[in-house]
Amino acid sequence: MPLIFHRRELAERIAAQVMSDTAGSAAASGIFLAAPRRTGKSTFLREDLRPQLERLHALTLYVDLWEDRKADPGQSIVAAIRSGLAGKEGVIARLARSAGMDKVNVGGLSFDMDRVGLGTGVSATRALAALSDETAQRIVLIIDEAQHALTTEAGADAMFALKAARDELNSSSHHGMRIVATGSNRDKLALLRNNRDQAFFGAPLVEFPHLGRDYIEWFCSHVNLPGQLDIDAAYTLFVEAGFRPEVLGGAADAVRFDFAPVTADVQMHFAQQVAKQIEETQADFLRVIRSLTPLQAAVFRVLAAKGAEYAPFEAATFSLYGKAVASGAMQVDAKLDTPNVQQALSALQEKGLVWRAARGVYALEEQGHAEMLARAGLLEGLAAGPP
Ligand SMILES: Nc1ncnc2c1ncn2[C@@H]1O[C@H](COP(=O)(O)OP(=O)(O)O)[C@@H](O)[C@H]1O
Ligand SMILES: [Mg+2]
Repeated sequence: MPLIFHRRELAERIAAQVMSDTAGSAAASGIFLAAPRRTGKSTFLREDLRPQLERLHALTLYVDLWEDRKADPGQSIVAAIRSGLAGKEGVIARLARSAGMDKVNVGGLSFDMDRVGLGTGVSATRALAALSDETAQRIVLIIDEAQHALTTEAGADAMFALKAARDELNSSSHHGMRIVATGSNRDKLALLRNNRDQAFFGAPLVEFPHLGRDYIEWFCSHVNLPGQLDIDAAYTLFVEAGFRPEVLGGAADAVRFDFAPVTADVQMHFAQQVAKQIEETQADFLRVIRSLTPLQAAVFRVLAAKGAEYAPFEAATFSLYGKAVASGAMQVDAKLDTPNVQQALSALQEKGLVWRAARGVYALEEQGHAEMLARAGLLEGLAAGPP
């Protein structure tokens, strides 16, 4: 089975938009693609968009801020820039000269890559400008799961450094720079672009399209089960699975490894396995919720219910915490006050359930959790009241 369903047309459309030179277009600020987790963003960026940008003669750099969650996002971005410079002697010679290292031995690469960074030595702007000038290419930096840049100071600094670089490279003396950012949560991406102080103020936020029926046709013809899958039925299951390929893949594996003679009703068996996968995900999640303290669970539910309007320490929010606690099955041990709510938020963040921007804005780590809470009836009555 070929591993990847290619989305060439989508890549052509997005790449054309990214590379466009339309005067006054906000696209020069970069573009933000938003879609839930596990729906194929990274796969698309790596397998389809990047090659297409390269066909359009762009020099693309890619960094996934989710990949190594222990690394500081600022450092990950710097590392991506350094990797773009690596091995390009002309660029390095240029940088060495501009850093005042006239007698540098370029063959021996005595220019120290560590000098490229944020706020020290060779700035991101200088490094990227040298790269673009030397190669005569437009640079496209792809930042996957860009919202993580906001979780640390260095990450936020990197976003500002990139704005400076972008403005410089988009001036007439260079070949241009574009930034493509993705994220799994609209509220978080909005923080990167809704605020005038932010590096991507005004950049267009585009709903990244989920995989469609053409993907399901491809899937059904390559899945190799002991019987045919019906495309319409499989697509319905795909919708129920939140457009996540892994759910279908997991169900297909389960059917394949089931030694019962299922040839006649592969379709039914497959549907059962998809339902089972969805149920198991929900059950696993609810087990996690039940393992929280009553206050943590209450804070989490209220955050999920309020979304972008969540204000952790307002009086109205406290009354919602009270409501959430009261509707829970457990006795509350902790007092409902600011320090305890703060502590609950920190604990939720440590458990990977809650995301916090460096300046104190909170959001769910996974948007899908809100839907699971809603399905379990755990958000009822919690969205009421003034924001
Ligand atoms: N175009 C595709 N063809 C085949 N499988 C895909 C495709 N897009 C995504 N997948 C599968 O779905 C899963 C999640 O994809 P990924 O790109 O990591 O999602 P995201 O970056 O949105 O979290 C991966 O296992 C991947 O192999
Ligand atoms: Mg990804």
